[in-house]
Amino acid sequence: MSAFRFAHFSDPHLPLAPDRLSGRGFFTKQLLSYLSWQRKKRHVHQPAVLDCLLADIQAAAPDHIACTGDIANISWPGEFQRGRDWLARVGPPQQVSYIPGNHDAMVPAPFAQGLGLWRDYMQGDRPPAPDAPLPDGLFPALRRRGPVAFIGLNSGVPTAPLLATGRLGTAQVEALGDMLADLARERLFRVVMVHHPVAPGVVRRRKGLSDAAALRHLLARTGAEMLLHGHAHRASLAMLKGPNGLIPSLTVPSASAIRHGRYPAAQWNLVTVDTDGGGWRVQVEVRGYDGAGAMRTVDGYTLLLPWA
Ligand SMILES: [Fe+2]
Repeated sequence: MSAFRFAHFSDPHLPLAPDRLSGRGFFTKQLLSYLSWQRKKRHVHQPAVLDCLLADIQAAAPDHIACTGDIANISWPGEFQRGRDWLARVGPPQQVSYIPGNHDAMVPAPFAQGLGLWRDYMQGDRPPAPDAPLPDGLFPALRRRGPVAFIGLNSGVPTAPLLATGRLGTAQVEALGDMLADLARERLFRVVMVHHPVAPGVVRRRKGLSDAAALRHLLARTGAEMLLHGHAHRASLAMLKGPNGLIPSLTVPSASAIRHGRYPAAQWNLVTVDTDGGGWRVQVEVRGYDGAGAMRTVDGYTLLLPWA
């Protein structure tokens, strides 16, 4: 097997302007998030940083690109349309896998004018049945690429103001269990993508995944080779319990962020998957924004993981 290389980035938070919240119905939660954007976040999330990161990924020419949510900020209709145009710049749907974040599902929205505009980047190789409810019917979304199986989950659910929790629901967790068990028999490198962190303590409770314990319990039984998540806006490598050893769970800072407070500037990971004797050899190169218009390698490590 030749090595397979994929990029992981997250939380691009495209600029909100020029949308205005006047003249149309909106939710209190959207208004609060809009004010937060105007007051603080628009200074943190900069298009020039995101462009720089994207150019760096494209220069690396990975075999696949995974993005773990939060293109949007307040789930405003214009954000979905601009998000679609932006995804087209990232790459074709076959080469780019996306899952929704909490900012993409902040309030209930019609699928066709909301997440549906990004469907090509989210759905699995096998489309859902025509009568399946959407977006739920899209997930878990399985995409096979070389030796890697990317499995997208949807943890984005509307929540009360000041909460940023996520939830998968029993049906999605159970379907994931069946999928992971089948893929283990094929000896594929199973990458589970979920916006909210699954390991305890990565984010505060008001931002956490409400059924994370159920997912950890499932993973301890079925295993997976890697988890990718977003939401934390900082780099993290946590380990989850699997049936044969530990499962690495990785995230990166927001792809558009300058350094602010305790949060680092934008980063992305280049993950190279190869076989090594009786298991997987995984190299992670961490690329970070240098604060002056360029990306450079800021960290790197190798993981040796057992076969399923
Ligand atoms: Fe985010």
